[in-house]
Amino acid sequence: MSRTELSEELAGEIRKRVFEEPGFMKVTQVVRRGGSTFRVSVRPVAIKGEKRYQGEMTEAGQTTVKNFDPDGARKGLEDMLEQTGPRELHLMTALGDLHVRVTKKGKALVSRSAAMSRVADAQPAHDRVKRQPLTSFDSGALLKAIGIADADGRIRASMRGKYDQVNQFLKVIDSVLDGRDEKTLNIVDCGCGRAYLTLAVYAYLTQTRGYDVRVCGIDRRADVIGTARALADTLDVAARVSFVEGEIADSEPGFEPDLVLSLHACDTATDEALARGIEWKSRYLLCVPCCQHELHTSLKEGGPMQAVMRHGILRERLADLLTDTFRAQILRVLGFRVNVMEFVSAEATARNILLKAEFCVKPGQAGAVSEYLELRDFWKVTPWLETRMEKLMGKYLSRY
Ligand SMILES: C[S@@+](CC[C@H](N)C(=O)[O-])C[C@H]1O[C@@H](n2cnc3c(N)ncnc32)[C@H](O)[C@@H]1O
Repeated sequence: MSRTELSEELAGEIRKRVFEEPGFMKVTQVVRRGGSTFRVSVRPVAIKGEKRYQGEMTEAGQTTVKNFDPDGARKGLEDMLEQTGPRELHLMTALGDLHVRVTKKGKALVSRSAAMSRVADAQPAHDRVKRQPLTSFDSGALLKAIGIADADGRIRASMRGKYDQVNQFLKVIDSVLDGRDEKTLNIVDCGCGRAYLTLAVYAYLTQTRGYDVRVCGIDRRADVIGTARALADTLDVAARVSFVEGEIADSEPGFEPDLVLSLHACDTATDEALARGIEWKSRYLLCVPCCQHELHTSLKEGGPMQAVMRHGILRERLADLLTDTFRAQILRVLGFRVNVMEFVSAEATARNILLKAEFCVKPGQAGAVSEYLELRDFWKVTPWLETRMEKLMGKYLSRY
């Protein structure tokens, strides 16, 4: 054990992941002593195109923020690593998390998340507002109209979460479109609500990316569809952005979509969005699920998982994870390449998983089908989406 209480190997891994590997997002250390808490964090920023690091120190409720050049940041990290006594250190990178808890006895307990694929800016801006998709064009009128910005054009504190979600969603759309030659795109937003995303997607893709876009938002609520239509009129985009009041299950956008979106469509509305996307033969599906109830009650009690089932919160999280796992695997069976990613931080919303799928593989691949059947048989459940896609799924599952 070195004087840092962290082994040299562990300290070396942290230095490497912060300064040498791509995708560093943030490192935070929290020290609690004698009833007071000292928190320090470092994250990368870009200032006038130069790579810098922003340090944030909070002590006794007072926060100070300071920018450092790489040498200053290295020194700051060394100070963190040399800290002694009980503390917690959390390192976030695009590829995964590292968590270290140093106990009162000076023992470092280390845990690492599984490999992830988070959306991380290569060089996050010092002032985040400057480098987001929604600041890459003149979005003032849009943001004010949809209520994300106030009359002076400032992002409302209560809408910061929505603003971040929309920006991140646009970045994922960018990642889908990069490498695609066609400049026309038909998009459906399932469970569009007040159309924050629907209208932002249209504005961004036409104004920043130069696409010829049609977008249709679908929602069962008459009031939000009324608001969305009025907003499209105000923004003078109603000819290309339309809205349908109705169930996702039986609404028609009036064109063949290339891209189907859903952001926090409730419960099985996410499955319905996926199902419609498959039926419409949409090449791309991007869905951020919301509350999910379907497996919460159908997961069986007993067996080796009883220790998990006993605790409501663990059971709920397991059910959520399994629901998304089943969705991803069903999409794989049906010919999609699937990426499951964290699209905003878990601090921002617990509903922060995004399923990104592209139809580009021959459906019914033996490996995908057998993995699916094994998973389904182990948990002894039939996911809602399988039942919904019964005919198509039956065709591939019955071969095995
Ligand atoms: C939580 S809101 C999200 C709205 C929007 N996507 C956003 O992120 O701001 C979910 C929306 O999905 C709609 N919705 C839920 N289930 C639906 C269904 N089966 N068919 C149509 N709309 C649905 C609700 O009416 C609601 O407006």
